[in-house]
Amino acid sequence: MMFLYSSPESEETDKNRYELMNIRKATISDAVQLQQIARQTFSDTFSAVNSTENMEKYLTERFSIETLKSELQCENSEFYFAEKDHEIAGYLKINVGNAQSEPQEPGALEIERIYVRKDFQGKKVGQLLYQQAVEVAEEKDARYVWLGVWEENHRAVAFYKKNGFVEFGKHIFKLGADEQIDLMMKLELKLS
Ligand SMILES: CC(C)(COP(=O)(O)OP(=O)(O)OC[C@H]1O[C@@H](n2cnc3c(N)ncnc32)[C@H](O)[C@@H]1OP(=O)(O)O)[C@@H](O)C(=O)NCCC(=O)NCCS
Repeated sequence: MMFLYSSPESEETDKNRYELMNIRKATISDAVQLQQIARQTFSDTFSAVNSTENMEKYLTERFSIETLKSELQCENSEFYFAEKDHEIAGYLKINVGNAQSEPQEPGALEIERIYVRKDFQGKKVGQLLYQQAVEVAEEKDARYVWLGVWEENHRAVAFYKKNGFVEFGKHIFKLGADEQIDLMMKLELKLS
């Protein structure tokens, strides 16, 4: 799927104003690329506020090729890449059913991760990945979309609030030996 996204560096003419960003579903053959973008974006986001030891432990365990391959093959999880000229700008991971991080009511879809590379942030790439998640949720006839976000990640919390998410609880996220508080946020897609 191709989308227009705004590129602030090239606002001189309408023609140059948008560049094509492609959203595609990742497959098992993308495991190495997925590992690269997952490790890079996670460490860019959290290295400054976590110990090297905790970061290393998390990166090694959660983003091993074996783990990523099994997640790519899981029928209840989907990964999407945002790409420009075959360069990966960001990725999305969504889960349904028993792949979700926490048990939910029937008809839930979890956005487990939306991560955009630093040099692409603020250019609506996150918004495109988010829209992809909502599109899949609608295709699956989901009742609500939910996620957990670290309470100190103000930019991400603002991003989800802007998209209509509301807080409905808190849960503990373990980063190595450290326990951190995640806000749980949800967006109802259907009134029931
Ligand atoms: C959070 C994140 C996914 C947003 O993606 P993005 O591509 O940078 O955001 P977009 O350009 O699509 O912006 C969409 C909205 O996000 C919010 N946003 C973006 N940049 C922001 C900033 N610097 N400060 C506060 N809000 C911001 C705004 O509400 C923005 O809408 P607006 O431009 O109409 O004001 C991205 O910044 C990111 O990957 N951050 C690091 C990883 C992370 O924290 N992921 C979430 C973990 S749960």
